[in-house]
Amino acid sequence: MMKVHFIGAGQMVEAIVRAAVNNGKLRGGDISIEDIDPARVSLLTGKYGVAASKSLAGADLVVIAVRPQDNLGAVAKSIVDRASDDVIVVSIVAGVTLAHLDTLLGAGRPVARVIPNTLTDTGYGFSGVVLNERVRPDDIQDFLESFGKVLYLEERMLDIFTGFAIAGPNYIYYFIESLTDAGVLAGLPRAQATAVVMENLVGAVEMLKRSQLHPRQLLDINNSPAGVGMHGLYELNNSDFAAGLQRSVLAAVKRTTQLANE
Ligand SMILES: NC(=O)c1ccc[n+]([C@@H]2O[C@H](COP(=O)([O-])OP(=O)(O)OC[C@H]3O[C@@H](n4cnc5c(N)ncnc54)[C@H](OP(=O)(O)O)[C@@H]3O)[C@@H](O)[C@H]2O)c1
Repeated sequence: MMKVHFIGAGQMVEAIVRAAVNNGKLRGGDISIEDIDPARVSLLTGKYGVAASKSLAGADLVVIAVRPQDNLGAVAKSIVDRASDDVIVVSIVAGVTLAHLDTLLGAGRPVARVIPNTLTDTGYGFSGVVLNERVRPDDIQDFLESFGKVLYLEERMLDIFTGFAIAGPNYIYYFIESLTDAGVLAGLPRAQATAVVMENLVGAVEMLKRSQLHPRQLLDINNSPAGVGMHGLYELNNSDFAAGLQRSVLAAVKRTTQLANE
């Protein structure tokens, strides 16, 4: 197993460590952390058996996990001072480009930019990954797969990926809430409406996978002439549903780019 050191031990690192340790892909003993907040260090060492350390000796990967507004220059300098040139630096800091990381770390280091998904505990969810020319996918695949699935991207796609995929569970949670409310509005008890929506959601995804049909084809199969479903869909077509959802994604993508430039 590879040894991973995290600089910054906030919410995202906890989500990664919790998933990786619980699914057995990393052992607590293979992970070390540091954070300027001692409370975060003692919380994570206590909960997941990771080590508190400021040494990078033996680390295969060093993950920069501070916020974009934190002192990234100081973090980069501390890596340059402590890690040999061949240690892979993984940055999960939103909006900080490979070119900027090269400036901070000095060109010539292997660097990966990762936008981690937030469904880490489930094994679902893609993390978006961009590698510089000194990192091969095999070098970090095991680490990345310890907290979800991996999508390699061109760097220019990363903001789109963030607004669409990383914000993606929000759209699903909101859809689930809205559809459940519709069942309650129509008269079903909330617990039953929730159970039906969850089952339909998972089942619909499974139907798409098994049938290999386009959603439109399954809609066609499900909706007989002048039937119940077709009447429901007619009303949905009259709403702003599709365009509203699409505008929402475009707004999230735009905001990602704005934040990167601030
Ligand atoms: N949360 C998400 O959904 C998500 C998704 C994708 C990517 N990201 C990226 O992941 C990164 C971390 O996000 P987060 O939500 O985990 O933030 P967070 O909870 O605020 O964690 C950042 C941690 O880093 C610590 N820190 C700051 N400067 C440091 C330094 N120089 N050395 C060591 N530790 C330092 C902070 O301590 P203090 O609080 O005491 O300053 C804090 O505990 C961000 O760059 C974000 O863009 C987050």
